[in-house]
Amino acid sequence: METTCVRLQSATVDVIIKTHPFAEILYWGAHLSDFSPQDVATLERPVANGKLDVDAPVTLMAEPGHGLFGSPGIEGHRSGLDGSPVFTTVHCEQHDGSLTLLSEDTRAGLRLQSEISLDASGVLKIRHGLTNVRAGAWQVDRLAVTLPVAERAQEVMAFHGRWTREFQPHRVALTHDSFVLESRRGRSSHEHFPALIAGSTGFSEMQGDVWGAHLGWSGNHRMRCEVKTDGRRYMQAEALYLPGEMALGEGETLWTPWLYASHSANGLNGMSQQYHRFLRELVIRFPENKPRPVHLNTWEGIYFNHSPAYIMQMAEDAAALGVERFIIDDGWFKGRNDDRAALGDWYLDTQKYPDGLKPVIDHVKNQGMEFGIWVEPEMINPNSDLYRAHPEWVLALPDYPQATGRHQLVLNLNIPAAFDYLLERMSWLLGEHDIDYVKWDMNRELVQPGHNGKAAADAQTRQYYRLLDTLRTRFPDVEFESCASGGGRIDYGVLTRCHRFWPSDNNDALERNAIQRGMSYFFPPEVMGAHIGNRHCHATFRQHSIAFRGLTALFGHMGLELDPTNADAGEREGYRHYAALYKQWREVIHSGTQWRVDMPDATTQVQGVVSQDKRQALFSVSQLAMPDYSLMPPLRVPGLEASARYRTTLLDHPNIQLTGEGGHTMRKLPAWMTGTQTVSGAWLMQAGMSLPVLDPESAILIGFERV
Ligand code: DGJ
Repeated sequence: METTCVRLQSATVDVIIKTHPFAEILYWGAHLSDFSPQDVATLERPVANGKLDVDAPVTLMAEPGHGLFGSPGIEGHRSGLDGSPVFTTVHCEQHDGSLTLLSEDTRAGLRLQSEISLDASGVLKIRHGLTNVRAGAWQVDRLAVTLPVAERAQEVMAFHGRWTREFQPHRVALTHDSFVLESRRGRSSHEHFPALIAGSTGFSEMQGDVWGAHLGWSGNHRMRCEVKTDGRRYMQAEALYLPGEMALGEGETLWTPWLYASHSANGLNGMSQQYHRFLRELVIRFPENKPRPVHLNTWEGIYFNHSPAYIMQMAEDAAALGVERFIIDDGWFKGRNDDRAALGDWYLDTQKYPDGLKPVIDHVKNQGMEFGIWVEPEMINPNSDLYRAHPEWVLALPDYPQATGRHQLVLNLNIPAAFDYLLERMSWLLGEHDIDYVKWDMNRELVQPGHNGKAAADAQTRQYYRLLDTLRTRFPDVEFESCASGGGRIDYGVLTRCHRFWPSDNNDALERNAIQRGMSYFFPPEVMGAHIGNRHCHATFRQHSIAFRGLTALFGHMGLELDPTNADAGEREGYRHYAALYKQWREVIHSGTQWRVDMPDATTQVQGVVSQDKRQALFSVSQLAMPDYSLMPPLRVPGLEASARYRTTLLDHPNIQLTGEGGHTMRKLPAWMTGTQTVSGAWLMQAGMSLPVLDPESAILIGFERV
């Protein structure tokens, strides 16, 4: 069969794929204003001396049989046989922006289906389905999606983290060998968010070629960026299988999770903007397109201390502050007085709620708010009625002790009776009560996850999806939040089935600036829970002004994580003010183009949103630590319309005092701050505007209105 080339294109990205005799991605980069298939001949490689006598392509399945030598895209065998498949394309179909390839290795008895699509946003989606077409199980050790990136991608950015410190970016120079991250924790994890960004040297928010890759999967995973000894490089992403975990019987198919990839020739902002647009157009769905309501979540306000009368008072106070959705967190179910007991016993605690939940829900609704509730279905405390009745329902390998985490173990959702029990209890909760919202938590990692003596991490993740999917089908108007000790389960796999993430248990505004910025590389603000916490942050014991807390929570889905009833008048006024500011701007924030601004002084963090029609923009400047210089650099405002003029207004600021009036950083404010000024978009983008000298841990908000 002759060599055939397929082109997938969007306004910003092109992908050129050779389809025969085997599939190979020849180009993934900036949109080509002109291209003909014969152009690819310029990329035909020489054969270097001292190696194989033939060219070794990095094929779509990265088979070692082509002489790859690097990390393969497929590893497995049939009792030791059929262990090195090489696929040949047998069928290829292109529809608009998508390509389906069918290939097979008749010697190994395997068939492969590859689905590749490039969305108008510029996001490339790829997955493979491997089918065993011969008798005898084919043991799958690895099945990955491989994506070549250009040789100039010399640096890799990834995210590390831990509980209360999620989404911390770090970078490595990658000139040889590989960079690998793995989660073996049974969830996407705080520690190893399933994404990699490869980029040209020194890539930044505004500059450089970047290639982002995110695996939409909430379980164990492996992400890799590999440099071959000939200098070519590729990214690889896969669900990670434990020993013996995955085998395909005859006729069975295993699909990889979707890999979502975004190339930008304009730095990280371009990459993120494509991801955000893709999610908004194709993934995120809010019932009735409802604006994201202001939350109050009870956790840091009352913890396990539930009294209906007090909660109703909290609800009244919350409504008076502008809260639109009131969520009762952990502590409402039978025997749940601390975190040592009761997970699994999904019955109302009638000692705490002698009249049931209904009066509380009615009260919340009478205040004009929606009602939400917390659950953690996948878990079981050894001190629970459920465990006493069904100790065999724990996800474990027989005869090995399981270490508890937060005093809890994991329920084996692969046991039909356990799955059905949870489905019945959750259906009772959502069916018998007028509940609009569920905060679904998951606070323990999977250790030696086993079912019938075999590893079962992958199966557990699939059952979690099935449980959530079934509940969503039964209760289509209920919104779900994904939480796992804060940000332990944040990925596109779960985003296809939920409406919001809880990024972190850390509500310290300083820490949140970093966490939310890290998360923003892949997620838009409307799915990022961002709550104003107590003045004394519970996670760090730092204290922050209400202005710093409020402005930090503004660029997400805002809420309060506190008890409004015992807050002083000044604090309450602050909550009211920022809830109102959020409502005023949420439409722009949740639909506009998001920008992170490169600042020469890393102690200053700037982000903003420009409305799609470029008529309005909102930028916040957060001073995270003592500035390196005595003056802040001018802010060059990205994303505006060059030919338009904008009215610039200081919308919100801390209590700035000049020297002589009690302050110590400035004798005189920048001139524009003392009034409203009209400036050209081109000037704002190229020359910028002076910033005030801010105290550490404070922020200002600047608005731009087209005139
Ligand atoms: C962990 C979550 O991250 C918190 O927000 C809270 O819901 C607690 N669990 C409740 O136990």
